[in-house]
Amino acid sequence: MNATFEAAIERELGDLHRRDLRGPASVLSERYRFGDVTGVSHGFASGQAQAYLATRAPATFAATRKVLAELGSLRPGWAPKSILDLGAGPGTATWAAVAVFPSIEHAELVEREPEMAALGIRLGRNGLPDLLADSAWTIADAAEVTTPKSDLVVAAYILGELRHDRERSALERWWGAARGELLLIEPGTPAGFERLRAARSALISWGAQVTAPCPHDDACPMAGSDWCHFAVRLERSNLHRELKGARLGYEDEKYSYLAVSASRPCVPVARLVRSPRPHKGHVRLWLCEAGGLDERVISRREGEVYRRARAARWGDRLELN
Ligand SMILES: C[S@@+](CC[C@H](N)C(=O)[O-])C[C@H]1O[C@@H](n2cnc3c(N)ncnc32)[C@H](O)[C@@H]1O
Repeated sequence: MNATFEAAIERELGDLHRRDLRGPASVLSERYRFGDVTGVSHGFASGQAQAYLATRAPATFAATRKVLAELGSLRPGWAPKSILDLGAGPGTATWAAVAVFPSIEHAELVEREPEMAALGIRLGRNGLPDLLADSAWTIADAAEVTTPKSDLVVAAYILGELRHDRERSALERWWGAARGELLLIEPGTPAGFERLRAARSALISWGAQVTAPCPHDDACPMAGSDWCHFAVRLERSNLHRELKGARLGYEDEKYSYLAVSASRPCVPVARLVRSPRPHKGHVRLWLCEAGGLDERVISRREGEVYRRARAARWGDRLELN
């Protein structure tokens, strides 16, 4: 995790006793596990916003930072100056964006729940002073709020919390607010991916082009029980581990994402949609390409292409020529 975000979390949670967070953490975890988050405001009862910060924000931060780094590498030289963070929670996406794009000077954050916004404001004051001086939190419904245009618009882990019948109009509004990239991130579950697949079709019909992860704007070829998702590994702090009742010192956060803009930077030839399988003398790859999904076997005899294929990881772009 980015050291400054980690430090800000520790400062915020440092004085709390673990036992004070255990109850709120388990209520929060049930709420998300049983999908009881859609459309209605539950508020964050005492300790729940902090529990989110301890148990979920490190993972959503890691996923968001990884996706933003991918956008940065697809658009070398891109230096966004402003971010609009929708369903900001404690400001996770803003922290990730600042870590990847030091060019960011202004952040607009929209969050529905006052308890969560208050926590985000505190975190920012303790850690992002320069940025915060010129940043604005709005406590409002992100599906309806009118915001200034921003270079980067991020809606991380919020689409699934909107009422289904409001998703399309919210998307249209967010797309209208994006001067550069609009980035949507959802849990890497079949349901999260389905929301992004629907968003992708709508955005393309409004003239958007896909920056990532798809190397094309054709119909999404994922079918059947397959869904497009990726993973990032992060270390768990002791508190994180304790509140989750977990033994492992790390977790793998699965996420799905979609980044679109008015004009795609460069088209990656292919993207690895599963982990490559290395074998003796060859490697097996599952790729999404302009022509659809493809399973390829690259043999050691292919020299440089084989070396690139061996080094590639799930979620990477891959040039095979
Ligand atoms: C799962 S959290 C994600 C927070 C943050 N984006 C992250 O990645 O860690 C979803 C957040 O969106 C907020 N939210 C849900 N629906 C909203 C809406 N219609 N307008 C504004 N915020 C909303 C929730 O209160 C919660 O703080």
